[in-house]
Amino acid sequence: MWTAGLAELNVAAGRTSAGSRAAQLLPSHAPAELREVAHLERLLRAVPQKAPHDLGPAASALLEAGGKRVRPLMLLLSARAASPQSRAQGRAALAIASELVHSASLLHDDVIDDGLTRRGLPAPRVRWGNSVSVIAGDWLLTAALTLAQRSRVPGAVEALVRALHALVEGEAIQLKLRGSTRFTVAEALAVARGKTGSLFAFCGEAGALAARAPSKIREALYEFGLRSGTAFQIADDLLDVEGDAEALGKAALADAAEGKPSLPLAVALERDPDLRESLALLLRADEAGEPLGERVIALAARVRASGALAAARELAERERAAAMAALQRLPGSETRDLLEVVAGALVSRSS
Ligand code: FPP
Ligand code: MG
Repeated sequence: MWTAGLAELNVAAGRTSAGSRAAQLLPSHAPAELREVAHLERLLRAVPQKAPHDLGPAASALLEAGGKRVRPLMLLLSARAASPQSRAQGRAALAIASELVHSASLLHDDVIDDGLTRRGLPAPRVRWGNSVSVIAGDWLLTAALTLAQRSRVPGAVEALVRALHALVEGEAIQLKLRGSTRFTVAEALAVARGKTGSLFAFCGEAGALAARAPSKIREALYEFGLRSGTAFQIADDLLDVEGDAEALGKAALADAAEGKPSLPLAVALERDPDLRESLALLLRADEAGEPLGERVIALAARVRASGALAAARELAERERAAAMAALQRLPGSETRDLLEVVAGALVSRSS
Protein backbone atom coordinates (compact mmCIF):
# COMPACT_ATOMS: atom_id res chain seq x y z
CA MET A 1 0.00 0.00 0.00
CA TRP A 2 1.45 3.35 -0.94
CA THR A 3 0.50 4.90 2.36
CA ALA A 4 2.45 2.32 4.33
CA GLY A 5 5.28 3.84 6.30
CA LEU A 6 3.95 7.36 6.11
CA ALA A 7 2.77 7.57 9.69
CA GLU A 8 6.24 8.47 10.88
CA LEU A 9 8.80 10.34 8.88
CA ASN A 10 12.29 8.89 8.86
CA VAL A 11 14.68 11.80 8.47
CA ALA A 12 17.71 9.65 7.77
CA ALA A 13 17.36 9.93 4.00
CA GLY A 14 19.90 11.59 1.74
CA ARG A 15 19.47 14.59 -0.54
CA THR A 16 17.67 14.44 -3.84
CA SER A 17 17.15 16.97 -6.57
CA ALA A 18 14.00 18.14 -4.81
CA GLY A 19 16.03 18.53 -1.65
CA SER A 20 18.29 20.90 -3.53
CA ARG A 21 15.31 22.75 -5.06
CA ALA A 22 13.91 23.29 -1.60
CA ALA A 23 17.44 24.42 -0.71
CA GLN A 24 16.86 27.47 -2.91
CA LEU A 25 14.32 28.54 -0.31
CA LEU A 26 16.21 27.56 2.82
CA PRO A 27 19.44 28.86 4.32
CA SER A 28 22.35 26.40 4.33
CA HIS A 29 22.15 25.93 8.11
CA ALA A 30 18.88 23.97 7.80
CA PRO A 31 20.10 20.44 6.98
CA ALA A 32 17.44 18.65 9.05
CA GLU A 33 14.63 20.31 7.07
CA LEU A 34 16.36 19.49 3.79
CA ARG A 35 16.76 15.84 4.76
CA GLU A 36 13.09 15.68 5.68
CA VAL A 37 12.03 17.15 2.33
CA ALA A 38 14.40 14.82 0.49
CA HIS A 39 12.88 11.79 2.18
CA LEU A 40 9.41 13.03 1.45
CA GLU A 41 10.36 13.34 -2.18
CA ARG A 42 10.81 9.59 -2.53
CA LEU A 43 7.47 8.89 -0.86
CA LEU A 44 5.80 11.50 -3.04
CA ARG A 45 7.10 10.08 -6.30
CA ALA A 46 5.99 6.59 -5.28
CA VAL A 47 2.32 7.64 -5.04
CA PRO A 48 1.40 7.86 -8.77
CA GLN A 49 3.10 4.52 -9.43
CA LYS A 50 -0.11 3.00 -8.08
CA ALA A 51 -2.44 4.92 -10.41
CA PRO A 52 -4.73 2.54 -12.31
CA HIS A 53 -4.69 1.64 -15.98
CA ASP A 54 -3.00 4.20 -18.20
CA LEU A 55 -3.08 7.12 -15.78
CA GLY A 56 0.37 6.53 -14.23
CA PRO A 57 2.58 8.49 -16.66
CA ALA A 58 0.29 11.54 -16.68
CA ALA A 59 -0.21 11.39 -12.89
CA SER A 60 3.52 11.29 -12.26
CA ALA A 61 4.75 13.60 -15.06
CA LEU A 62 4.56 16.88 -13.16
CA LEU A 63 5.91 15.38 -9.96
CA GLU A 64 8.86 13.96 -11.89
CA ALA A 65 9.43 17.23 -13.76
CA GLY A 66 10.31 19.12 -10.62
CA GLY A 67 8.78 21.93 -8.62
CA LYS A 68 10.13 23.60 -5.51
CA ARG A 69 8.03 21.49 -3.10
CA VAL A 70 7.33 24.68 -1.24
CA ARG A 71 3.94 23.53 0.05
CA PRO A 72 5.26 20.37 1.75
CA LEU A 73 8.17 22.37 3.09
CA MET A 74 5.79 24.93 4.61
CA LEU A 75 3.67 22.20 6.14
CA LEU A 76 6.66 20.45 7.74
CA LEU A 77 8.08 23.71 9.06
CA SER A 78 4.65 24.75 10.35
CA ALA A 79 4.35 21.49 12.28
CA ARG A 80 7.69 22.03 13.95
CA ALA A 81 7.12 25.73 14.58
CA ALA A 82 3.71 24.95 16.11
CA SER A 83 5.20 22.66 18.68
CA PRO A 84 8.95 21.92 18.60
CA GLN A 85 8.51 19.06 21.11
CA SER A 86 5.70 17.34 19.27
CA ARG A 87 6.40 14.38 17.00
CA ALA A 88 3.67 15.69 14.70
CA GLN A 89 2.59 12.20 13.68
CA GLY A 90 1.00 12.23 10.24
CA ARG A 91 2.72 15.37 8.99
CA ALA A 92 4.50 13.53 6.16
CA ALA A 93 1.24 12.19 4.77
CA LEU A 94 -0.29 15.68 4.88
CA ALA A 95 2.78 17.26 3.30
CA ILE A 96 2.58 14.78 0.43
CA ALA A 97 -1.16 15.42 0.13
CA SER A 98 -0.49 19.15 -0.30
CA GLU A 99 1.84 18.55 -3.26
CA LEU A 100 -0.57 16.03 -4.80
CA VAL A 101 -3.37 18.59 -4.71
CA HIS A 102 -1.06 21.15 -6.29
CA SER A 103 -0.10 18.71 -9.03
CA ALA A 104 -3.75 17.73 -9.61
CA SER A 105 -4.76 21.37 -9.92
CA LEU A 106 -2.04 21.98 -12.53
CA LEU A 107 -3.16 18.98 -14.57
CA HIS A 108 -6.66 20.49 -14.62
CA ASP A 109 -5.39 24.01 -15.10
CA ASP A 110 -3.51 23.15 -18.28
CA VAL A 111 -6.71 21.70 -19.73
CA ILE A 112 -8.65 24.86 -18.80
CA ASP A 113 -5.92 27.17 -20.15
CA ASP A 114 -4.98 25.07 -23.20
CA GLY A 115 -1.48 25.09 -21.68
CA LEU A 116 1.23 23.75 -23.94
CA THR A 117 4.18 23.51 -21.59
CA ARG A 118 4.61 22.93 -17.90
CA ARG A 119 7.90 22.94 -16.02
CA GLY A 120 9.80 23.21 -19.26
CA LEU A 121 8.21 20.12 -20.83
CA PRO A 122 5.14 19.53 -23.00
CA ALA A 123 2.11 19.72 -20.69
CA PRO A 124 0.67 16.28 -19.82
CA ARG A 125 -2.48 17.14 -21.79
CA VAL A 126 -0.31 17.61 -24.89
CA ARG A 127 1.31 14.19 -24.39
CA TRP A 128 -1.64 12.11 -23.22
CA GLY A 129 -4.69 14.23 -24.05
CA ASN A 130 -7.17 16.28 -22.04
CA SER A 131 -9.23 13.34 -20.79
CA VAL A 132 -6.27 11.47 -19.35
CA SER A 133 -4.99 14.71 -17.83
CA VAL A 134 -8.31 15.42 -16.08
CA ILE A 135 -8.74 11.89 -14.77
CA ALA A 136 -5.10 11.69 -13.66
CA GLY A 137 -5.72 14.95 -11.75
CA ASP A 138 -8.86 13.44 -10.22
CA TRP A 139 -6.87 10.41 -9.18
CA LEU A 140 -4.17 12.53 -7.50
CA LEU A 141 -6.90 14.46 -5.72
CA THR A 142 -8.47 11.31 -4.33
CA ALA A 143 -5.01 10.06 -3.35
CA ALA A 144 -4.50 13.31 -1.43
CA LEU A 145 -7.82 12.92 0.39
CA THR A 146 -7.03 9.30 1.18
CA LEU A 147 -3.68 10.34 2.64
CA ALA A 148 -5.32 13.03 4.76
CA GLN A 149 -7.73 10.39 6.06
CA ARG A 150 -4.96 7.87 6.75
CA SER A 151 -2.78 10.46 8.46
CA ARG A 152 -5.19 10.11 11.40
CA VAL A 153 -4.55 13.76 12.19
CA PRO A 154 -7.76 15.05 13.80
CA GLY A 155 -9.37 17.71 11.61
CA ALA A 156 -7.04 17.18 8.64
CA VAL A 157 -9.68 15.92 6.20
CA GLU A 158 -12.01 18.78 7.12
CA ALA A 159 -9.19 21.30 6.64
CA LEU A 160 -8.31 19.84 3.25
CA VAL A 161 -11.94 19.83 2.09
CA ARG A 162 -12.23 23.49 3.15
CA ALA A 163 -9.08 24.32 1.18
CA LEU A 164 -10.41 22.50 -1.89
CA HIS A 165 -13.66 24.44 -1.70
CA ALA A 166 -11.73 27.71 -1.57
CA LEU A 167 -9.45 26.61 -4.42
CA VAL A 168 -12.37 25.79 -6.67
CA GLU A 169 -14.12 29.02 -5.64
CA GLY A 170 -11.03 31.03 -6.68
CA GLU A 171 -10.98 29.27 -10.05
CA ALA A 172 -14.70 29.87 -10.45
CA ILE A 173 -14.26 33.63 -9.92
CA GLN A 174 -11.37 33.60 -12.38
CA LEU A 175 -13.51 31.75 -14.92
CA LYS A 176 -16.35 34.23 -14.50
CA LEU A 177 -13.97 37.14 -15.09
CA ARG A 178 -12.11 35.50 -17.95
CA GLY A 179 -11.78 37.77 -20.95
CA SER A 180 -13.27 40.68 -19.00
CA THR A 181 -11.65 44.12 -19.17
CA ARG A 182 -13.53 45.35 -16.12
CA PHE A 183 -12.29 43.36 -13.16
CA THR A 184 -11.39 45.12 -9.90
CA VAL A 185 -8.46 44.87 -7.50
CA ALA A 186 -10.77 43.25 -4.93
CA GLU A 187 -11.78 40.59 -7.46
CA ALA A 188 -8.18 39.92 -8.51
CA LEU A 189 -7.25 39.57 -4.83
CA ALA A 190 -10.10 37.11 -4.27
CA VAL A 191 -8.76 35.02 -7.16
CA ALA A 192 -5.21 35.08 -5.75
CA ARG A 193 -6.42 34.11 -2.27
CA GLY A 194 -8.61 31.33 -3.60
CA LYS A 195 -6.47 29.71 -6.24
CA THR A 196 -3.15 29.92 -4.39
CA GLY A 197 -3.56 31.26 -0.85
CA SER A 198 -6.01 28.54 0.15
CA LEU A 199 -3.60 25.63 -0.34
CA PHE A 200 -0.82 27.43 1.53
CA ALA A 201 -3.34 28.16 4.30
CA PHE A 202 -4.00 24.42 4.46
CA CYS A 203 -0.25 23.79 4.79
CA GLY A 204 -0.01 26.09 7.78
CA GLU A 205 -3.17 24.75 9.40
CA ALA A 206 -2.36 21.09 8.72
CA GLY A 207 1.12 21.51 10.21
CA ALA A 208 -0.49 22.86 13.39
CA LEU A 209 -3.08 20.07 13.40
CA ALA A 210 -0.34 17.42 13.05
CA ALA A 211 1.46 19.02 16.00
CA ARG A 212 -1.82 18.89 17.95
CA ALA A 213 -1.32 22.60 18.62
CA PRO A 214 -3.96 24.77 20.31
CA SER A 215 -6.45 26.67 18.16
CA LYS A 216 -4.64 30.02 18.59
CA ILE A 217 -1.52 28.56 16.96
CA ARG A 218 -3.58 26.83 14.28
CA GLU A 219 -5.31 30.07 13.35
CA ALA A 220 -2.00 31.92 13.25
CA LEU A 221 -0.44 29.36 10.90
CA TYR A 222 -3.56 29.30 8.72
CA GLU A 223 -3.31 33.08 8.41
CA PHE A 224 0.43 32.86 7.75
CA GLY A 225 -0.13 30.38 4.93
CA LEU A 226 -3.05 32.29 3.41
CA ARG A 227 -1.20 35.61 3.39
CA SER A 228 2.16 34.28 2.19
CA GLY A 229 0.45 32.19 -0.52
CA THR A 230 -1.49 35.24 -1.70
CA ALA A 231 1.76 37.26 -1.78
CA PHE A 232 3.32 34.44 -3.81
CA GLN A 233 0.47 34.61 -6.36
CA ILE A 234 0.76 38.41 -6.65
CA ALA A 235 4.52 38.00 -7.23
CA ASP A 236 3.61 35.50 -9.97
CA ASP A 237 1.13 37.98 -11.49
CA LEU A 238 3.86 40.63 -11.47
CA LEU A 239 6.29 38.34 -13.29
CA ASP A 240 3.77 38.11 -16.11
CA VAL A 241 4.22 41.82 -16.75
CA GLU A 242 7.81 42.45 -15.78
CA GLY A 243 9.49 39.03 -15.80
CA ASP A 244 12.17 37.72 -18.12
CA ALA A 245 10.25 35.62 -20.67
CA GLU A 246 13.16 33.19 -21.07
CA ALA A 247 13.51 32.52 -17.34
CA LEU A 248 9.74 32.14 -16.98
CA GLY A 249 9.40 29.80 -19.96
CA LYS A 250 6.41 31.77 -21.26
CA ALA A 251 5.81 34.98 -23.18
CA ALA A 252 5.39 38.33 -21.45
CA LEU A 253 1.75 39.14 -20.63
CA ALA A 254 0.78 35.55 -21.43
CA ASP A 255 -1.72 35.58 -18.54
CA ALA A 256 -3.21 38.88 -19.73
CA ALA A 257 -3.56 37.57 -23.28
CA GLU A 258 -5.34 34.50 -21.86
CA GLY A 259 -7.82 36.91 -20.26
CA LYS A 260 -6.79 36.23 -16.66
CA PRO A 261 -7.71 38.82 -14.03
CA SER A 262 -4.23 39.43 -12.63
CA LEU A 263 -3.63 41.96 -9.87
CA PRO A 264 -1.26 44.39 -11.64
CA LEU A 265 -3.66 44.53 -14.56
CA ALA A 266 -6.59 45.19 -12.19
CA VAL A 267 -4.69 48.10 -10.65
CA ALA A 268 -3.76 49.45 -14.09
CA LEU A 269 -7.37 49.20 -15.30
CA GLU A 270 -8.62 51.09 -12.26
CA ARG A 271 -6.01 53.81 -12.80
CA ASP A 272 -6.22 54.10 -16.58
CA PRO A 273 -9.67 53.06 -17.83
CA ASP A 274 -8.58 53.75 -21.44
CA LEU A 275 -6.41 50.67 -21.07
CA ARG A 276 -9.55 48.55 -21.45
CA GLU A 277 -9.50 49.14 -25.18
CA SER A 278 -5.85 47.99 -25.55
CA LEU A 279 -6.59 44.91 -23.46
CA ALA A 280 -9.70 44.13 -25.53
CA LEU A 281 -7.60 44.34 -28.71
CA LEU A 282 -4.97 42.01 -27.24
CA LEU A 283 -7.65 39.50 -26.22
CA ARG A 284 -9.21 39.61 -29.68
CA ALA A 285 -5.83 39.19 -31.39
CA ASP A 286 -5.02 36.20 -29.16
CA GLU A 287 -8.40 34.67 -29.90
CA ALA A 288 -7.80 35.11 -33.64
CA GLY A 289 -4.33 33.54 -33.35
CA GLU A 290 -2.68 36.74 -34.58
CA PRO A 291 0.90 37.62 -33.51
CA LEU A 292 0.77 39.64 -30.27
CA GLY A 293 4.24 41.20 -30.28
CA GLU A 294 3.53 44.91 -30.77
CA ARG A 295 0.29 44.87 -28.79
CA VAL A 296 2.01 43.18 -25.85
CA ILE A 297 4.83 45.72 -25.81
CA ALA A 298 2.38 48.63 -25.97
CA LEU A 299 0.12 47.23 -23.24
CA ALA A 300 3.06 46.39 -20.94
CA ALA A 301 4.37 49.95 -21.38
CA ARG A 302 0.99 51.43 -20.41
CA VAL A 303 0.64 49.14 -17.40
CA ARG A 304 4.10 50.28 -16.29
CA ALA A 305 3.30 53.95 -16.93
CA SER A 306 0.19 53.69 -14.73
CA GLY A 307 2.38 52.85 -11.72
CA ALA A 308 0.45 49.59 -11.30
CA LEU A 309 3.56 47.47 -10.82
CA ALA A 310 4.73 49.41 -7.78
CA ALA A 311 1.17 49.36 -6.39
CA ALA A 312 0.86 45.59 -6.91
CA ARG A 313 4.27 45.10 -5.32
CA GLU A 314 3.02 47.08 -2.34
CA LEU A 315 -0.02 44.81 -2.09
CA ALA A 316 2.26 41.74 -2.17
CA GLU A 317 4.36 43.37 0.54
CA ARG A 318 1.22 44.03 2.59
CA GLU A 319 0.29 40.33 2.37
CA ARG A 320 3.83 39.32 3.31
CA ALA A 321 3.80 41.71 6.29
CA ALA A 322 0.45 40.25 7.44
CA ALA A 323 1.96 36.75 7.12
CA MET A 324 4.93 37.80 9.26
CA ALA A 325 2.63 39.39 11.84
CA ALA A 326 0.69 36.12 12.09
CA LEU A 327 3.97 34.26 12.66
CA GLN A 328 4.75 36.49 15.63
CA ARG A 329 1.79 34.85 17.40
CA LEU A 330 3.90 31.66 17.58
CA PRO A 331 6.60 31.10 20.19
CA GLY A 332 10.02 32.20 18.93
CA SER A 333 12.12 29.36 17.47
CA GLU A 334 14.65 28.65 14.73
CA THR A 335 11.88 26.99 12.72
CA ARG A 336 9.72 30.08 12.95
CA ASP A 337 12.68 32.05 11.57
CA LEU A 338 12.95 29.54 8.70
CA LEU A 339 9.28 30.04 7.86
CA GLU A 340 9.99 33.74 7.65
CA VAL A 341 12.89 33.10 5.26
CA VAL A 342 10.78 30.81 3.04
CA ALA A 343 7.87 33.28 2.89
CA GLY A 344 10.30 36.09 2.02
CA ALA A 345 11.84 34.00 -0.78
CA LEU A 346 8.39 33.35 -2.24
CA VAL A 347 7.67 37.02 -2.69
CA SER A 348 11.05 37.96 -4.13
CA ARG A 349 11.03 35.16 -6.72
CA SER A 350 12.18 35.83 -10.27
CA SER A 351 10.92 32.67 -12.02
C1 FPP B 1 -2.32 27.83 -11.95
O1 FPP B 1 -2.71 29.13 -12.25
C2 FPP B 1 -3.45 27.10 -11.30
C3 FPP B 1 -3.80 27.15 -10.00
C4 FPP B 1 -3.03 27.94 -9.01
C5 FPP B 1 -4.97 26.41 -9.44
C6 FPP B 1 -5.82 25.67 -10.43
C7 FPP B 1 -7.07 25.09 -9.76
C8 FPP B 1 -8.04 24.40 -10.40
C9 FPP B 1 -7.95 24.10 -11.85
C10 FPP B 1 -9.27 23.95 -9.68
C11 FPP B 1 -9.04 22.96 -8.60
C12 FPP B 1 -8.59 21.65 -9.07
C13 FPP B 1 -8.25 20.62 -8.22
C14 FPP B 1 -7.91 19.31 -8.77
C15 FPP B 1 -8.21 20.80 -6.78
P1 FPP B 1 -2.30 29.86 -13.57
O2 FPP B 1 -3.01 29.28 -14.73
O3 FPP B 1 -2.48 31.30 -13.29
O4 FPP B 1 -0.73 29.59 -13.63
P2 FPP B 1 0.16 28.89 -14.74
O5 FPP B 1 0.76 30.01 -15.52
O6 FPP B 1 1.19 28.13 -13.93
O7 FPP B 1 -0.70 28.00 -15.57
MG1 MG C 1 -2.57 28.06 -16.31
